[in-house]
Amino acid sequence: MSSVTVSVPAKVNLQLAVGGVRPDGFHELVSVFHAVSLYDEVTVESADRLSLTCDGEGIDDVPLDHTNLAARAAVLLADRLGREPHVRIRIRKGIPVAGGMAGGSADAAATLLACDTLWRGDTPREMLRRLGAELGSDVPFSDLGGTAIGTGRGERLASVPTTARFHWVFALADGGLSTPAVYGECDRLRDEAGTGVPRPAPREELIAALRAGDAYALGANLVNDLQPAALSLRPSLAATLRAGVDAGAVGSLVSGSGPTCAFLAPDEETAHVVADRLAASGTCRAVRVAYGAVSGARVLPRRVVPVERENTV
Ligand code: C5P
Repeated sequence: MSSVTVSVPAKVNLQLAVGGVRPDGFHELVSVFHAVSLYDEVTVESADRLSLTCDGEGIDDVPLDHTNLAARAAVLLADRLGREPHVRIRIRKGIPVAGGMAGGSADAAATLLACDTLWRGDTPREMLRRLGAELGSDVPFSDLGGTAIGTGRGERLASVPTTARFHWVFALADGGLSTPAVYGECDRLRDEAGTGVPRPAPREELIAALRAGDAYALGANLVNDLQPAALSLRPSLAATLRAGVDAGAVGSLVSGSGPTCAFLAPDEETAHVVADRLAASGTCRAVRVAYGAVSGARVLPRRVVPVERENTV
């Protein structure tokens, strides 16, 4: 096997309940993760040193050094398997960069799975997810996919089986938002308001809406505790959220730490109408239509490259 390609989805948090800061500096969370059909593809192939390439939109903001989560994933797994991390990693971005949709975490999850397959590590998926949690709170979910409740700092997962397909529109913003800065702003706003810190808990109406496949009830119960902080750092997102609702969305929220805004549509046809109206509203850089839930990281079948006719004479 000379190369392995893994496809990995973006996520949106249907609920992001943020509690207090733990002794390790992370916030206690309840996060309802939902994997949607925007994908990165990560290909790894054997090489004589570790290298990284990236193509797609927004890649100027992707670090191509040892701080990249995909490179760190290769180093971490190689260390566990007692070998050198000598691979060429190629990332094709379909997930908005620094958009609050776990693009970096997705690449880490994909690299762990791709390298383990290339190196024939036979590491159980549960173990790959545990390794992923060392790299970032969202990495285990990028591997698992579907819809799941995350607790702890978001890395302890319980799947929420659903059969319904939900239709989404994502409004992409110019430039990213720093996740630590958004969490910091959330703490600052809470201090300022003196409201105290709520204990995070899953919203029952939201879980029931998911199980029932009820887009209207789901839309009414979407909630992101980081949204006031993202709006405080990027006030223009308020107009984007309004435009999506005016365009016919049944629910809206900032995705994760933003600045991508997510809109739930009642059906696929309406999703395209919402997308067209949002694109025309001038309140975002670009729009994407997607659906969820989709499965997590998976190895793609090898592409058969046609062999040219050849003859030794
Ligand atoms: O885990 P991850 O590397 O994705 O987290 C990025 C940053 O987001 C952390 O450094 C931290 O500032 C913030 N964060 C947090 N609490 C969490 C998850 C992330 O404060 N549960």
